[in-house]
Amino acid sequence: MKSFATLLLALCSLRRVQASTQTNLTVLAGLHVIYSYSGATPPGELTTLIEDGVVGGIILFGGNVDSSLPATIQSWQTAYANSPAYIGSPLLIMTDQEGGEVRRLPGGPTESEKAIGESSDPEQAASQAGSDAAAALGAYNMNANLAPVLDVFRTPGDFDDQYQRSYSDNATLAGICGAAFTTAQQAAGYIATAKHFPGLGSASADENTDEVPVTLNVTIKEIRAVDELPYHNAIAAGIDMIMPSWALYPDFDDEYPSGLSEKWLKQELRGRLGFQGVTISDAIEAGALTAFGSDSERAVLASSAGMDIILAAAQNVTQGQTIVNALVDALNSGALDEAEFDEGTQRILQLRQKISV
Ligand SMILES: *[C@@H]1O[C@H](CO)[C@@H](O)[C@H](O)[C@H]1NC(C)=O
Ligand SMILES: *[C@@H]1O[C@H](CO)[C@@H](O)[C@H](O)[C@H]1NC(C)=O
Ligand SMILES: *[C@@H]1O[C@H](CO)[C@@H](O)[C@H](O)[C@H]1NC(C)=O
Ligand SMILES: *[C@@H]1O[C@H](CO)[C@@H](O)[C@H](O)[C@H]1NC(C)=O
Repeated sequence: MKSFATLLLALCSLRRVQASTQTNLTVLAGLHVIYSYSGATPPGELTTLIEDGVVGGIILFGGNVDSSLPATIQSWQTAYANSPAYIGSPLLIMTDQEGGEVRRLPGGPTESEKAIGESSDPEQAASQAGSDAAAALGAYNMNANLAPVLDVFRTPGDFDDQYQRSYSDNATLAGICGAAFTTAQQAAGYIATAKHFPGLGSASADENTDEVPVTLNVTIKEIRAVDELPYHNAIAAGIDMIMPSWALYPDFDDEYPSGLSEKWLKQELRGRLGFQGVTISDAIEAGALTAFGSDSERAVLASSAGMDIILAAAQNVTQGQTIVNALVDALNSGALDEAEFDEGTQRILQLRQKISV
């Protein structure tokens, strides 16, 4: 049971949210954008932008990580909480702490997803990995992880398998492991993110959406029977966030990659699979999206398709600002539906209420 004081606090935050979202579209749009920067010394302007309320959160990469980072993150949260733009809940501070080779922070999980899937007790090992990821995030004052990977690999050495990022080529097992990781990490108080919906498991080694457009000719029948299977487990486990992929799956939508696709986001993920949490994009500057214009144009496209959060991951603070401004312009011009955008805002705020710092 929540204490009376906690309830009162939540009520007060809700009132603040309503007051500020009604009055300032820039602050509202800022909630939808995750910023990034380069190197171990954060640009000073980032703190100013946080105090202005135009930063929804920050993604950290290996090059940002040193022993001063935990204190820096704490200082951002404090500056934000003390600013007039404070919305009543902390900034989202995230990284890719998947396990094995893909870890931005010292600490666990040291085992790769593949090693977990091949272990004698995969469910227990995945649960341990979720706890280890939570501990690593906690040591750095972070609150969200862009893991677990739920992709179901097909062939040894393919896109996911080359870095051992897939639990298994057995979708049932991948689902069990993904849910166990999610449950353990979220029980410790850290947001988990299932990726890359509906799956990059059928991508070959060089089909990397960070670099090039990727078309996966897998049928929707196979996608639902194999790739989407682990999402049923993760959603049942209460996964907080889902990251759609930037691959094109022509059998279901031959025009838009999953993360830009209303069909994938609204019809399949929310409609058919019943996901009610927050959708977060993969890097908006990804090479897969060259046909879809500037980062700003991509962000507006993704948002209007139903993407709640845009990841400005180019390690450049200006990119985040540019995208916030583009979202504001699109809301003002009507290119973005304000009522739908606001539903996303409410999902983001609900998620942020769960974070304790
Ligand atoms: C809205 O917030 C932005 C960012 O903090 C600020 O620059 C702007 O002046 C605010 N607008 C209004 C009308 O208060
Ligand atoms: C897939 O994994 C599940 C869960 O571990 C197991 O019950 C099933 O037998 C596996 N299927 C195959 C074909 O190995
Ligand atoms: C996928 O289908 C498209 C369109 O039919 C075709 O151009 C492409 O070569 C196919 N790719 C693979 C890997 O089969
Ligand atoms: C940073 O992002 C802005 C806006 O997207 C872009 O114009 C600029 O070239 C980028 N700078 C660097 C150094 O990448």
